[in-house]
Amino acid sequence: MATDVPIFRLNRAWVQEIRVSLVGRTILLCTLVNVFPSLLWSQDSPDFFRQNCMNCHTIGGGRLTGPDLKDVSERKDREWLIGFMMNPKSYLDSGDPYAIKILEESRNVPMPTLPGMTRERSENLLDLIDAESKLTESQFKGLQISNKPFNDADRKLGRDIFLGKHRLEAGGAACISCHSMHDVTTLGGGRLGPDLTNIYERLKGRKALSAWLVAPGTETMQPIFKNHPISNDEIHALVAYFEASAGESPAQPTSSRIALLFLGLMGSTAAVFGFDAIWKRRFYSVRQPLVDANSHQSSRSTKAHS
Ligand code: HEC
Ligand code: HEC
Repeated sequence: MATDVPIFRLNRAWVQEIRVSLVGRTILLCTLVNVFPSLLWSQDSPDFFRQNCMNCHTIGGGRLTGPDLKDVSERKDREWLIGFMMNPKSYLDSGDPYAIKILEESRNVPMPTLPGMTRERSENLLDLIDAESKLTESQFKGLQISNKPFNDADRKLGRDIFLGKHRLEAGGAACISCHSMHDVTTLGGGRLGPDLTNIYERLKGRKALSAWLVAPGTETMQPIFKNHPISNDEIHALVAYFEASAGESPAQPTSSRIALLFLGLMGSTAAVFGFDAIWKRRFYSVRQPLVDANSHQSSRSTKAHS
């Protein structure tokens, strides 16, 4: 009898030990792994919306490239909206009638599939949109966009920015490296992105195009401009240039492609020679003094020794 008790106690302690170490720790770990990041995600939602969605959507400020998202949950069910936000293309490809209807209403500009849209992030964004829809004035009602009339100086500056003659303040890449325009024939213009001659109409005028450029949200554009935003003055000038080109016919691709090929070849040849020259100069300007200093030092030290 007397021996039974300690064994029983020992067992209990043992069981408790397991509970604390395995179950307890597993629960603790799961909590940390699941709840903690979701807290972070949801805190991060307004910033994420501002960075990734506000260029195409307002909440209560009217349509931009995409529809106004105020009360979107009353138009479509939650599960559909979450899935659509994660992968809009798959809904369009499957011929979903509602997706096709909102695409037509957006002049056939599709919503891009945005990087980093996990299920959790979509859920949190929809919660944010629902909460903001209930406010009389959402923080996402819209951006402050210039409505100064355009003049010739604006259009010229816009063209220079497009061509890279005028450097973007924050250092984003020149548009011409990836886009062509109707009046940019001598240099060609890049083929990676679409021709922008008719972009003013395509993105539905000044307000929507300006908003789009505040935070370009597509796959290739976003990583380039996220940390190098185009300033308001630069957007004003670019939009002036795009407005003036609306209605022109887009650049002819073949001639510009050949021009670009030559330009590319010339560029890489120049780069090879350029690097060579720089390297040589570096050798003389950096290495030579080091070599000199070393040889002085060694001659001095040999003198000291002698
Ligand atoms: C480049 C522009 C663009 C960006 C960026 C963008 N959207 Fe969209 N969005 C659209 C367009 C255009 C549509 C409607 C056309 C379609 O079917 O693609 C749309 C549709 C939607 C819809 C369905 C709207 C409705 O009326 O049923 C939701 C919800 C939505 N977007 C949420 C988001 C969220 C959240 C983000 C940011 C993470 C985002 N969008 C980023 C352009 C954009
Ligand atoms: C490194 C290449 C690159 C540079 C530089 C670049 N773009 Fe783009 N851009 C693209 C690509 C590619 C697309 C097509 C969508 C995507 O994949 O991002 C695009 C799409 C666009 C669109 C939307 C076109 C549409 O029909 O929906 C606009 C507007 C635009 N770019 C404007 C600009 C402007 C203005 C500049 C210069 C300030 C610029 N881009 C610089 C690659 C580039």
